[in-house]
Amino acid sequence: MATESHSERPTDVLVVGGGIIGLAVAWRARQRGLSVCLIERHAIGAGASRVAAGMLAPVSEVEFDQARRKTLALALSSADMWPSFAAELAELAGVDVGLRRAGTLMVARDADEARELERQLAFRQSLDVAVSRLLPSQAREREPALAPNVRLALLADGDHSVDPVLAVHALLVACRRSGVEVVEHAGDVAVAVDAEGGRVEGVRLADGSLRAAGQVVVAMGAWSALLDGLPESLRVPVRPVKGQILRLRDPAGPGLLNGAVRGAGVYIVPRNDGRYVVGASMEERGFDLAATAGVVHELLRHARDLVPGISEFQLEEVCVGLRPGTPDNAPLIGASELQGLVWACGHYRNGILLSPLTAALTAGVLTGDPGDPLLALCDPARFHGPDADAGLALERQLTGSRG
Ligand code: GLY
Repeated sequence: MATESHSERPTDVLVVGGGIIGLAVAWRARQRGLSVCLIERHAIGAGASRVAAGMLAPVSEVEFDQARRKTLALALSSADMWPSFAAELAELAGVDVGLRRAGTLMVARDADEARELERQLAFRQSLDVAVSRLLPSQAREREPALAPNVRLALLADGDHSVDPVLAVHALLVACRRSGVEVVEHAGDVAVAVDAEGGRVEGVRLADGSLRAAGQVVVAMGAWSALLDGLPESLRVPVRPVKGQILRLRDPAGPGLLNGAVRGAGVYIVPRNDGRYVVGASMEERGFDLAATAGVVHELLRHARDLVPGISEFQLEEVCVGLRPGTPDNAPLIGASELQGLVWACGHYRNGILLSPLTAALTAGVLTGDPGDPLLALCDPARFHGPDADAGLALERQLTGSRG
């Protein structure tokens, strides 16, 4: 671990977790004039951020069962922020995060899938989000590599993608250039609470020393519920949801697909350099990180049925990550009941998409400016404590106003 005891020099903010959320929060907090240290127990970006496909897809990812559609409100807001977020990173860090603005096609290949897609279309129309119905010929005009048996397609023209590996790299450079202290390979840390149990003092490092801080942000993804040092009553209901993806490369270079394509049981996301991500399983298997032959087989089968040309691609890697799921699939962003402790976790399938918004909201909380009404949609208190009912009422009001 590359650090020493700094207990005599408290930092304004300690961010625990070096994935895309922790990095984005640390960067924005530093930009607001706070002194910031980010602590990552392993390598920066080595968790779910490295595995994520990078879809910025509020429209194609919206699900029927999303609690009162609240993640849609968050997702649309954060998707709007991505172009300027990417431009700012390019300017400050000199890294192009691979933002592709080519839309996403949702494709049906038989009568059952077409019926399901019509249902998905009606649902999205009821939400008043931008999606259009394409005939098979129109779909194939946009994506000539699609299988010939396309029955119906929906176009989410505003659903884009970035390369999360590049985004993490850009954020790390931006953090360092802005003056964030970054500590990697720190091992397990624990929250340190004062003797009265009323406020956070910092974090206890693996060697037992105290790293003092005014505020601690928990951005540990699927591991957020396991952070040591917290009373049981403050634990958050974040659980791991395993996802396996494949990384493929077209030896002929980029161009087989223009934008992301989704079909039954699979999505395919192109990168700028001829690489593709094929994803993803959804598995409730605790913290298991094993890649399995069955999932790899199913992903390849579905992907090839949708885009036959991928048979010629090289298979570079199978990756496994853990999405941080919550009971309502919305994130937890905001202050906890313990003074000085702030949650920024539980982003489920949308961590990359929600990183600019999470960073802005969390930086607001850290600087005493929690004025954004979107914070009510991710209030950590909704799962326990006296604010649970009030939070729910405000959430209904906000999501109701969005249809
Ligand atoms: N956002 C896509 C996934 O989690 O698989």
